[in-house]
Amino acid sequence: MNFNITILPGDGIGPEVVAEAVRVLDVIAGKYNHTFHFQERLMGGCSIDRYGSSLTDETLADCQASDSVLLGAVGGPKWDDPSASDRPERGLLALRKGLGVFANLRPVKVHPTLIDASPLKPEKLEGVDILVIRELTGGLYFGQPKMREMTERGERGVDTLEYYDFEVRRIVELAFNLAKGRKKKVLSVDKANVLESSRLWRQIATQVGKEHPDVTLEHQLVDSAAMKLITGPAWMDVVVTENMFGDILTDEASVLAGSMGMLPSASLSESGVGLYEPIHGSAPDIAGKGIANPVGTILSAAMMLRYSLKLEEEAGCIERAVNDAITNGARTADLGGMLSTRQMADEVIKYL
Ligand code: IPM
Ligand code: MG
Repeated sequence: MNFNITILPGDGIGPEVVAEAVRVLDVIAGKYNHTFHFQERLMGGCSIDRYGSSLTDETLADCQASDSVLLGAVGGPKWDDPSASDRPERGLLALRKGLGVFANLRPVKVHPTLIDASPLKPEKLEGVDILVIRELTGGLYFGQPKMREMTERGERGVDTLEYYDFEVRRIVELAFNLAKGRKKKVLSVDKANVLESSRLWRQIATQVGKEHPDVTLEHQLVDSAAMKLITGPAWMDVVVTENMFGDILTDEASVLAGSMGMLPSASLSESGVGLYEPIHGSAPDIAGKGIANPVGTILSAAMMLRYSLKLEEEAGCIERAVNDAITNGARTADLGGMLSTRQMADEVIKYL
């Protein structure tokens, strides 16, 4: 089969890890007789430097017209000036909004041989297999008003946490549907003791729960969920939550997997194109050194095959190869090893 994939390497280590995921995809294409047409575009700081905009209309249109988008990372100290009119992160948020990718799937699994790479006690980590579903196009990131103004009492900054019932419903429904292929447990995380938007969230989640009697629903407040994620993560299955809560909880959850460099993500829209990116950032401190862990991006490419291109067997092939490489001791620096970005990908390719 033929697929059009837009590649957005981005900034920092983005281009290094994306190049390795593309190599893995090329091997998959040869093995299973597919053709992947890659078109590369700029997004983030590199796009500001070149076009004066973190995401141009043309690039967004190219992404919308492709089957899926694979992204590295955006941002870096060069573009961090708080008074700048555009920032790399704005491009990423505009891309998510422009593609309508409301559901960000962030699976967190602990590979048995990496239990020692995590600072948590080994007995806490056994059997951890969590799917965090982060709402991605609403909530505190996008709510209006969002602004700065001068007032009599001083300068004021405003962000708004808002949700419409349909936004909550579609993400919670997805959580229930995905839970059916897993341990059939949904944990809905909110702050319903304080926030009105959370009380709406909990009400809708409860309604959707009644429509899925075969799946267990629990609610938890986000502060307590943050604690539970460290003290009893093996108990969690599917976790569904607001945009910013999900941002914070998934960085925390990455500690379970030993390194942030391990974790992939898939961002899905209602019908159209999906966006795939590792959950780590651009890591400017190690950019250009060729030592970044490419596994998060390689596993994101696997999720792309599964969710956007419907190539389940091929996705499983990549996931098994990563698993085998790790089992056989392949480690980049973040995992306490010595392999370069390219060597780590070579190890994965060996097991494809
Ligand atoms: C993430 C990142 C982004 C986010 C940043 C880079 C805007 O932290 O994907 O988790 O906050 O969503
Ligand atoms: Mg984040």
